[in-house]
Amino acid sequence: MKFITVITVAMFAAGSAYGQNAEIGTWAGFRKGAASFTFDDGAPSHVSDAGPVFDKYGYKGTFNLVYNWNPNWSGFQSLADNGHEIASHSNSHGQNMSGEEASSKTNIGGKIKQKYGIITVAYPNCNVPNERAVLQNYIVGRICNGSWQGMSDIMGKNGPSNWAKASAIMTGSEGQIKSTNDFTGQMQKAVQSNGWVAFLTHGFSGKNNGSATYSPTDLGAIEGALQWAKQNDKDIWVAPMGFVAMYIKERNAAKIEGSSDSNSMTFELKHNIADSISKYDYPLSIRVKTSWSKVEVTQNGAKLDSKIESGYVYFDAVPNGGKIVVKNGNATGTGNTTTRTTTKTIPSSGSCWASSLGYKCCTSSTVVAYTDSNGQWGIQNDDWCGIPNTNNRNCWARNLGYNCCSTQSCRNAQFSDTDGQWDIENGEWCGISTSNVLC
Ligand SMILES: *[C@@H]1O[C@H](CO)[C@@H](O)[C@H](O)[C@H]1NC(C)=O
Ligand SMILES: *[C@@H]1O[C@H](CO)[C@@H](O)[C@H](O)[C@H]1NC(C)=O
Ligand SMILES: *[C@@H]1O[C@H](CO)[C@@H](O)[C@H](O)[C@H]1NC(C)=O
Ligand SMILES: *[C@@H]1O[C@H](CO)[C@@H](O)[C@H](O)[C@H]1NC(C)=O
Ligand SMILES: *[C@@H]1O[C@H](CO)[C@@H](O)[C@H](O)[C@H]1NC(C)=O
Ligand SMILES: *[C@@H]1O[C@H](CO)[C@@H](O)[C@H](O)[C@H]1NC(C)=O
Repeated sequence: MKFITVITVAMFAAGSAYGQNAEIGTWAGFRKGAASFTFDDGAPSHVSDAGPVFDKYGYKGTFNLVYNWNPNWSGFQSLADNGHEIASHSNSHGQNMSGEEASSKTNIGGKIKQKYGIITVAYPNCNVPNERAVLQNYIVGRICNGSWQGMSDIMGKNGPSNWAKASAIMTGSEGQIKSTNDFTGQMQKAVQSNGWVAFLTHGFSGKNNGSATYSPTDLGAIEGALQWAKQNDKDIWVAPMGFVAMYIKERNAAKIEGSSDSNSMTFELKHNIADSISKYDYPLSIRVKTSWSKVEVTQNGAKLDSKIESGYVYFDAVPNGGKIVVKNGNATGTGNTTTRTTTKTIPSSGSCWASSLGYKCCTSSTVVAYTDSNGQWGIQNDDWCGIPNTNNRNCWARNLGYNCCSTQSCRNAQFSDTDGQWDIENGEWCGISTSNVLC
């Protein structure tokens, strides 16, 4: 006879304090500051020179294109495919792009396919067009040096006070940012203030600039800045302007709530930003206090990268992207909140339906001596034995005092013995029979 114990630990204990122990990072990776490199006018050198330099360090920039200047669409598409952001710099680069807010988005969006669409606009000549139209079509509108518009040059952790007026400091011959030290000095200020600095670059000295002839910048100075960022990667987050803007808006609108039991914590990360401009599912960085030395983190069933450091588990998750589960990686079993233990003894070989009736099973092919509702009986060693019936495995478990698994869902064999394969249903073992479909 077999004994099975199924212990179900209370799921999702109500009122758990774990929600308070989960925090969203001010910046991705819990870094101290953010930096964005933006490039105006769609120069050929942006594709041929800037893209590869950024890719070399694993960083991404924002490239603001002028639709009527017919930039190298396939070249910029390949930048977008590499994770860079392509954005609008108007249709015609007039003195004031007012009236082209929506159409330039549609036009450029028709040429460039990228995950979040065209979500950033940079104004030609730094002139703010119709703010309402900007904010209806874009997540962020970019001016030039903030100080020109009465804004700060380095933005705070919540971005600009007006999302139609994000600052970017001009680089190159006409700006104050020329050398690597100039760039890194601004990035250090962002780190020190937990803020966000953006740079505005046009063409590069000595490179093929096309229409981007204003204020050439030394690309080597930018490369030096990226090298510095790589060395200080734990402090500075380098990312495209639109992505940083999205992160800030999501972070400020998101709530994370959780519940837990002894071996897992479950979280919901949600915001209710309308998706009229984009889907706002840029991943947010989360950390949760833990005493576990090994964890596995999943969202909506898919595994997330995670690390444990100084008593926290760190991972990035998508808001409104399904349940986040942090499991104790040292816990045994499937790690679900249900712990399964069994004393189900492995029966002697030859066991079959008859064992539940106190008889042995026939070990060799035997003539049928008797048939009843239990099955077919033979005789071996002067005793009845049950003839294993491989053609009739349907609901074999019932003879053993268990239910057969329902056919409502596919089955996973959690345990196998010579009786057959077992799954768990409603906290009890059930036998997988020929009427079930395996997952
Ligand atoms: C456009 O960019 C691609 C690289 O993606 C390059 O091979 C091609 O020469 C560029 N075309 C022009 C006209 O610059
Ligand atoms: C640009 O156009 C907008 C909307 O018409 C207007 O409010 C703004 O003052 C203009 N800017 C300049 C510098 O002319
Ligand atoms: C802003 O840019 C202008 C022109 O490029 C430059 O003269 C000025 O010094 C800059 N201001 C700051 C604070 O960088
Ligand atoms: C533009 O490109 C040329 C080389 O093609 C370079 O010599 C020049 O410095 C660049 N000028 C500007 C304004 O970017
Ligand atoms: C958890 O697992 C890690 C590595 O597998 C091990 O070093 C550690 O001692 C385990 N902790 C516990 C509490 O079992
Ligand atoms: C955990 O168990 C519950 C109830 O049996 C089930 O609905 C859920 O899908 C399981 N989750 C995982 C990750 O196995």
